[in-house]
Amino acid sequence: MTYTPASRTQNYKYAIRNIVVEAKKIEAQGKKVTYLNIGDPALYGFQPPQELIEANIKAMRDGYSGYSPSAGIQAAREAVAEEAKRRNIPTTPDDVIFTYGASEAADIVFTAVLEPGDEVLAPSPGYPLYTAIATKIGAKEVKYRQNPNNNWQPDIDELKSLITSRTKLLVIINPNNPTGALYTKETLSAMLDIARQNGLIVIADEVYHKLIYEGEHVPMGSLAGDDLPVVTMESLSKNYLAPGWRLGWMTVTNASFMPEVMGAIRKLADARLCAPMSPQHAIPAAMNLPKSYLDATMARLRAQRDTTYQMLNQIDGISCNKPEGAFYAMAQVNLHNGELGTDEDFVLGLLREKGVLFVHGSGFGTEAKDGFFRIVFLPDVETLKDVYTRVADFTATFFERKLSLAK
Ligand SMILES: Cc1ncc(COP(=O)(O)O)c(C=O)c1O
Repeated sequence: MTYTPASRTQNYKYAIRNIVVEAKKIEAQGKKVTYLNIGDPALYGFQPPQELIEANIKAMRDGYSGYSPSAGIQAAREAVAEEAKRRNIPTTPDDVIFTYGASEAADIVFTAVLEPGDEVLAPSPGYPLYTAIATKIGAKEVKYRQNPNNNWQPDIDELKSLITSRTKLLVIINPNNPTGALYTKETLSAMLDIARQNGLIVIADEVYHKLIYEGEHVPMGSLAGDDLPVVTMESLSKNYLAPGWRLGWMTVTNASFMPEVMGAIRKLADARLCAPMSPQHAIPAAMNLPKSYLDATMARLRAQRDTTYQMLNQIDGISCNKPEGAFYAMAQVNLHNGELGTDEDFVLGLLREKGVLFVHGSGFGTEAKDGFFRIVFLPDVETLKDVYTRVADFTATFFERKLSLAK
């Protein structure tokens, strides 16, 4: 008897977790590993605001352990819609749908909109969730480039050239994972024009919009005008530091322009019953926290970001853009156009020799020969200093070895 998995899972990859298998092997040999692969703030001592914890516990004590309505409880949908309006994102409580993290929001919208063979434009490098969902439903992910030489802003001309009659969705991740880039208003407006001209629905992944170091985050929904459907995705995972609560939501702007799609989204939401119930009761508190709730978190993150940027750029053969948002840096090691190996060779070598785990850029869609790798700079400054010292040691020997072999 042979049991076979469905072919749709064959190319279903998620490098951020897949690479942990290698780290576990190293640990099994008795070596300590410092994990800088996954964007989970709780692993590094960050905690959600106390108000949210209290509200979540209270909801459980008050007996809210049942299913909620499929779209979420009314008070939470109202609170999200009000906050969205304060951020100039037009919407109504009826157009807010709670999900199992932003991840499920993406899954539902892709499933609701894309036929097999349809195309979705997504950033490269980009968060692998979108690649994975497109693969699962037989849709085609078409990657648009973000240019490392232009602070990882998307290349608008290239984006235009990628549109075909099958293109249905445009995914925008801002601030971006893995690059840490914050898109300018001009870039966003140009992208919206392309969506408008081609009848695309925009998915605005804004799960990091409160974690900004420089510049201002412009919500995509605030630029939608009164005709372009924009689905903004958020969650408690990053902006509120509670990824394990698995609560996200989509906020739809101009939903009235796509009533059938909204119907499909609601059917899919009905079938999976609801998002986690008790954290929904923390949403009114989350939407009304004083601005200062993130001050301590941002001060800590900024110091970690600065250490990352400074120390990596001091290493011969490594360069790194300055992240403007989120908690990721996309660094690059000069692999001499692949002559010295692949990004994964570098990342695995670093893991095996120095016990430091990053994720290779090709796991996010860059070329293996280009030598990109993503760093999660959530650990404290002292840990990061130790990590980057190990990276510097490893990089020096990596070059020595590779260049002597190449001679
Ligand atoms: C850009 C981006 N979108 C979505 C997600 C998924 O978030 P959630 O925990 O809300 O499902 C992540 C998680 O790392 C992310 O980086």
